Amino acid sequence: MADAFNALVLNKDDDGVTSAVESVGLDDLPEGDVVVAVDYSTLNYKDGLVLKGLGGLVRNYPHVPGVDLSGIVESSDGADFSAGDRVVLNGWRFGEVCWGGYAQKARVKSDWLVKLPDNISNEQAMAIGTAGYTAMLAVMALEDHGLSPDSEGEVLITGAAGGVGSIATAILANLGYQVAASTGRAETADYLKSLGAASIVGREELEEVPKGPLSGERWAGAIDNVGGPILANVLAGMKYHASVASIGLAASAKLETTVVPFIIRGVNLLGIDSVMCPKDKRIIAWDRLSKELPQDKLGDAATIVGLGDIAGYADDILAGQVKGRVVVDVNA
Ligand SMILES: NC(=O)c1ccc[n+]([C@@H]2O[C@H](COP(=O)([O-])OP(=O)(O)OC[C@H]3O[C@@H](n4cnc5c(N)ncnc54)[C@H](OP(=O)(O)O)[C@@H]3O)[C@@H](O)[C@H]2O)c1
Repeated sequence: MADAFNALVLNKDDDGVTSAVESVGLDDLPEGDVVVAVDYSTLNYKDGLVLKGLGGLVRNYPHVPGVDLSGIVESSDGADFSAGDRVVLNGWRFGEVCWGGYAQKARVKSDWLVKLPDNISNEQAMAIGTAGYTAMLAVMALEDHGLSPDSEGEVLITGAAGGVGSIATAILANLGYQVAASTGRAETADYLKSLGAASIVGREELEEVPKGPLSGERWAGAIDNVGGPILANVLAGMKYHASVASIGLAASAKLETTVVPFIIRGVNLLGIDSVMCPKDKRIIAWDRLSKELPQDKLGDAATIVGLGDIAGYADDILAGQVKGRVVVDVNA
């Protein structure tokens, strides 16, 4: 086949979803005005769901997963990008409703692409990935609502040893915040401290139900990756007028709480959405990542695997057992 390249292709039958590296062609790719030669993709929680055929995210098979990519523009029909530009793509339901980044080539809409800052390599961009870019969106939201390194008290990060949590820890610590990293894996304490965490909070401590709708004013801000009773507990322990950025549901999509933290302490619960986030905010987030995320921390947080190996990590990420970030070298 002319223009053949490798992709991780999912197929579905009565026994479930299977995956294999297959040779596909440019004609198989979805419509778009830019063709990208992909260098790296990554593994996010949502990729784990897609790889296992869970969550009803993929309607049409065969399917190529991968919600992120970094690469080099090969050809462009639009004025915004030229051959040779280094680009990153996160979200826009890429890898869900259309073929994604687990392939050596992708055809995409130019509106989805962001040019990579000079000091972020294509590999580093995927060590950051949707997880890291979402962590930066959360930091931006908290700061928009008054959090600053001068705020008194610690900023709590739940699910800290995961992808979002690891990068949020490194960014906030670098900006001068006192980070309290909450994890259910005590063995990650040294890793989290190496990213800059000032203290470690055992997950079980936050799973204890508070005695009333409020507990002691403890957190200056919080980034929550897990939802459920932990988020309810965090809301009860926020300082006056402090904010919680809600990113994830690794524990539960449910939230049983009261309005008391909101109406007595003026606490803000801020929703963070990376998928349909407008492009101007993405550009700011990537620019800030290039300046405020210490690149040396990224190497510690990333494991690099090949296209043929990535499906083996799906169970791990869904079970909350991946430490930091998994980067996919699609050309390995
Ligand atoms: N809003 C958005 O746009 C957006 C973007 C990206 C991700 N997300 C969501 O954010 C969450 C985190 O994403 P991620 O990529 O960081 O995933 P991840 O790498 O799997 O990290 C999730 C972490 O949550 C903790 N965890 C797992 N199961 C748990 C449980 N039952 N109870 C309490 N904690 C648990 C674990 O941290 P410890 O081992 O440290 O406890 C785990 O490492 C996911 O729910 C993901 O879907 C949302």
